[in-house]
Amino acid sequence: MAKHRVGIVGGDGIGPEVVAEGLKVVAAAGVDLETVDYDLGGARYLKDGTVLPDSVLEEWRGLEAIYLGAVGTPAVPPGVIERGLLLRMRFELDLYVNQRPFVAPDEGIDFVVIRENTEGTYAGEGGFLRKGTPHEIATQGSVNSRFGVERAIRYAFELAAARRNHLTLVHKTNVLTFSGDLWERAFDEVAAEHPSTGTAYNHVDAACIYFVESPQRYDVIVTDNLFGDILTDLGGAVSGGIGFASSANLNPARTGPSMFEPVHGSAPDIAGTGRANPTAAVLSAAMMLDFLGEAEAAARVHAACAAAANFSGTTSEIGDQIAAGV
Ligand code: IPM
Ligand code: MN
Repeated sequence: MAKHRVGIVGGDGIGPEVVAEGLKVVAAAGVDLETVDYDLGGARYLKDGTVLPDSVLEEWRGLEAIYLGAVGTPAVPPGVIERGLLLRMRFELDLYVNQRPFVAPDEGIDFVVIRENTEGTYAGEGGFLRKGTPHEIATQGSVNSRFGVERAIRYAFELAAARRNHLTLVHKTNVLTFSGDLWERAFDEVAAEHPSTGTAYNHVDAACIYFVESPQRYDVIVTDNLFGDILTDLGGAVSGGIGFASSANLNPARTGPSMFEPVHGSAPDIAGTGRANPTAAVLSAAMMLDFLGEAEAAARVHAACAAAANFSGTTSEIGDQIAAGV
């Protein structure tokens, strides 16, 4: 098979450390990648003010995938890198599905969260009035287009049909009566096209209890951007820890690259100590291989990671142990 052209953004903190292990395991799986490195993130911003040049974005449009470690560093004010790099990437490349699987076989946990990835409170609608005065006002709206909501829901129904055929909508329709109503109507209409798929609805607060008490109930979940952000950290915490939580930011239409990254952040407190668990990044690389059509290699990486909960050692020693098992 031809080499896959993949952009690499190691980013900040433990990002480059875990990405190196992911690439090590991909090589061990026998997949040849043509990688292009991009020095982006908080450290780069502190060096020369660069966040994400338009020219880089244009280059990315010609790649098959982007593999990202983590971006963000405490020395940069909140939002600069998150909005300017990560969210801009998700929005401009139309990565409208954020797919986050959670698997803990010993506990019978095996579910996937489909997080809408381009809208909601993340869209950036809002602003200040009278900023800095005692009467200041801040608004932060939630943008929900019928188009954007429906395409995420359609993707989730198709994924459910390929799994255990059950889909749960998570929202807060009892309070968010505008956005929740739109989500519910879109969900019900698409559900009517999938009569064999079992469906459920959970309010997001109740879903938090179910995640902790009985996550085995879930197959596929679809939810909005912010609920999905919060729930997937919880999903990581209840299924072995955030060190095992992988994700794929997908452009299912394949009009450009998709992006693969662990759910965790840059963890500056442990950067450089060798204590970061690379498994989430390795599993994200496996999702990338799957998306690139390398299903067999992806399956071997997944299988090798199944034992990773028992591995110990430094970041690169755990990477070696996974690589030895592929
Ligand atoms: C995630 C992260 C990002 C998000 C941050 C870094 C902007 O928490 O991918 O879950 O909120 O989406
Ligand atoms: Mn998050």
